[in-house]
Amino acid sequence: MRNPQINRHGELQHLLTLDGLPREIINSILDNAAPFTEVAEREVKKLPLLRGKSIFNLFFENSTRTRTTFEIAAKRLTADVVNLNVSTSSTAKGESLLDTIDNLCAMNADMFVVRHSASGAPVLIAQHLLATGRDHVHVVNAGDGRHAHPTQGLLDMYTIRHYKHDFTQLSVAIVGDVLHSRVARSQIAVLTTLGVPDLRVIAPKTLLPTAIDNMGVRTFNDMREGLRGVDVVMMLRLQNERMAGALLPTPQEYYKVWGLTPEKLSLAKQDAIVMHPGPMNRGIEIDSAVADGAQAVILPQVTFGIAVRMAVMCMLAGQ
Ligand code: NCD
Repeated sequence: MRNPQINRHGELQHLLTLDGLPREIINSILDNAAPFTEVAEREVKKLPLLRGKSIFNLFFENSTRTRTTFEIAAKRLTADVVNLNVSTSSTAKGESLLDTIDNLCAMNADMFVVRHSASGAPVLIAQHLLATGRDHVHVVNAGDGRHAHPTQGLLDMYTIRHYKHDFTQLSVAIVGDVLHSRVARSQIAVLTTLGVPDLRVIAPKTLLPTAIDNMGVRTFNDMREGLRGVDVVMMLRLQNERMAGALLPTPQEYYKVWGLTPEKLSLAKQDAIVMHPGPMNRGIEIDSAVADGAQAVILPQVTFGIAVRMAVMCMLAGQ
């Protein structure tokens, strides 16, 4: 089946998932993002590549980093950005998601950046746009349920490439609540496409999806064993809001066994980098000494995220 996010000319029409996204497209987004990091250092942080475009931020779930960095990215490209206030919007009065989209299309929207608690919401919007012949409107998935968070996966790859250069030589460990994590799913997909030879997932058995055996990763139920010799440690937030029932003991016990402390990190390579998509739970999945330590690249991830989102929006808009 044709990848729904690639149009008939082989171009990126929507960014919905990193699953099956060709390596050439991933690399060209990362390459295009590089010069955008320099725009941030200018006095006038503007490039007119999306001048006159209307971009709607539709965040049906909370967000600080992702929503703000999408907004800054669009503004640096001189697009007009509208942040829909979901709690006071018509969807709160019962309007369907697709009716909202139709109305925003009637306002000549060019792009939707969508975060939703339901897996598949951005795909649904993309299918609706296709079915109604609106080929000029693009959708970026900014995180849907447990499914995917493609721009997070891409900014993570930009960060790894910045510090480690060659994906084909790396040992990478993803640590924590994989079960509920759209970030982990996107990371596993893109790390696999980019040819990482040693991809590890470290998690308690109760926080691993059953499909993990088909994802081409090595799983570890012991943090010390899993961290030994890795180049990159990618931490995940414990997603308490997505947990139905008791999958875990207390946060204190989780920290004791699964929290990244300096002592556990010392088992990774000496120059290993530590990443986290945010928001972090200090003292639960990560110790403050690590989060603020010399190996952490958590704030650079945020900065790179703006450039990567600029690159994605430009590619979608054909610039
Ligand atoms: C992540 C998300 O919302 O999926 N955060 C983010 O986008 N920076 C991860 C999380 O919430 O744990």
